[in-house]
Amino acid sequence: MKKIVVLISGRGSNFLAIQETALCEDWANTIDAKIVGVISNRPDAKGLELAAGYGIDTKVIDHKLFETREAFEEELYKAVSAYKPDLIVLAGFMRILTAGFVDRFPGKILNIHPALLPSFKGLDTHQRAIDAGCRVHGTTVHFVTAALDGGAIIAQAVVPILPTDDEHTLADRVLVYEHQIYARAVKACVTGKVRYENERAVMDNDTAMSLTLLGQC
Ligand code: GRF
Repeated sequence: MKKIVVLISGRGSNFLAIQETALCEDWANTIDAKIVGVISNRPDAKGLELAAGYGIDTKVIDHKLFETREAFEEELYKAVSAYKPDLIVLAGFMRILTAGFVDRFPGKILNIHPALLPSFKGLDTHQRAIDAGCRVHGTTVHFVTAALDGGAIIAQAVVPILPTDDEHTLADRVLVYEHQIYARAVKACVTGKVRYENERAVMDNDTAMSLTLLGQC
């Protein structure tokens, strides 16, 4: 069984989308994969309740209880590696992970970022895309490296920006496609259709097509 561990900090809608896709498509039997654990750095993360509702093991590693980032990451490393994961999925996990953590799982950590990387790394992506006058915006799934929002791109979804948009309406539009594309990307990685080689995401043309979404309103 391929084991997936999800790291969250908040509401967990991306976790939920992946879990529901896994159930709908019966990943346990069709691709021999399942989410085995959800870990949050915040005790009040809504996603923890969602995970528990599915009978998924949950853990909290509260970053506020650690004096240094290194100490927090060491505890996180212990919690994650206890699952012997094949894939680690950051789903709204709002802590920066340093090389001390990331380099112990090369090519095994995915993140979703709410912008079309390499544009708009970091925070406030929706407002920044509006302020820049972009006509399109979107979301990116990428391998995680120590460079913030900088690892190889796996999947992207593009959505229009409308003249009437504010950051909230735009975020809502992007989120619909986050949910679709992240579940697809996780499946593609767990089944070996996407591989991490020489710091690139390697895949065939059909896989690349399925991991590129052009969204509407
Ligand atoms: C998403 O927009 C994701 O792209 C960003 O944080 C948000 C998390 O939402 N990194 P959720 O917790 O998955 O609902």
